[in-house]
Amino acid sequence: MKAGSSRDKRVYLLAAAGLAVILVLVVLVAGPPGRAVDWAIRAAALLGYLAALAASLSSAFMRQMLHLFGMPFLKVHHYMSIAALVLLTVHPLLVMLDMGSPAVLIPVLSSVSGFLQMGGRPAWYLLVVAALAALLRGRLGRGWRALHWLTYVALLLGAAHAMLIGSSFRAVPARVLLVLVASLALFVFARKRLDARRRRSRAAH
Ligand code: HEM
Ligand code: HEM
Repeated sequence: MKAGSSRDKRVYLLAAAGLAVILVLVVLVAGPPGRAVDWAIRAAALLGYLAALAASLSSAFMRQMLHLFGMPFLKVHHYMSIAALVLLTVHPLLVMLDMGSPAVLIPVLSSVSGFLQMGGRPAWYLLVVAALAALLRGRLGRGWRALHWLTYVALLLGAAHAMLIGSSFRAVPARVLLVLVASLALFVFARKRLDARRRRSRAAH
């Protein structure tokens, strides 16, 4: 009985993941036309963002991950974060090859609007620092978690960058969808803090 309900939940979750990928493809195809390289740059960005968000969401449902997939949270989290890091590295590398200059990898610090428009640049470095902090957590002690929180900043910067220069986000429905999706990162942050507070107060009683 229990296994059946767990299987049902797994089916719902996989259906939701499939729906998310279909939504990404719809947003992509509904955007303006482009060359093959433009499609590749956009697809890598959108799917990479989705994978990073899924990695974050998995952290808010750690117990459920074990229950649903029969594997520990960290394994699920690893698959998603590796997919995110690979796609979000391919995305700027393609931009760099297309532009023919490594200058596209340097964050813009001359103005707030420039910083946000090119917010993907600092976001990429933040994701790498956060992932390295997780890999080296044995050596870093408790401080690694604060460094790992940089993933939230990266997701928000990535959303601002997509909103300001992403071709797929010129139409209002796609912009609304982006705001909703980016808000999920804030939801994860709030849920993790509430869970921690609940655990502390249970331990105190
Ligand atoms: C794209 C890359 C990644 C993203 C977006 C991401 C995102 C997150 C988020 C949002 C949390 C919850 C943090 C909190 O609010 O306390 C988390 C937790 C965690 N992440 Fe990642 N992560 C990434 C990569 C990695 C990697 C590469 C590792 C391991 C080598 C890792 C290991 C962990 C662990 C162990 C936790 C659990 C923290 C706890 O005990 O609550 N993450 N991750
Ligand atoms: C050095 C790093 C980066 C560079 C040079 C870069 C560059 C670009 C460029 C030129 C575009 C416009 C593409 C187009 O609309 O045709 C774009 C869009 C986008 N970028 Fe980045 N980016 C970087 C990192 C990131 C990161 C780390 C993220 C996610 C956290 C991200 C997420 C996005 C998203 C979601 C779009 C919108 C794609 C679309 O409109 O379909 N970018 N980026």
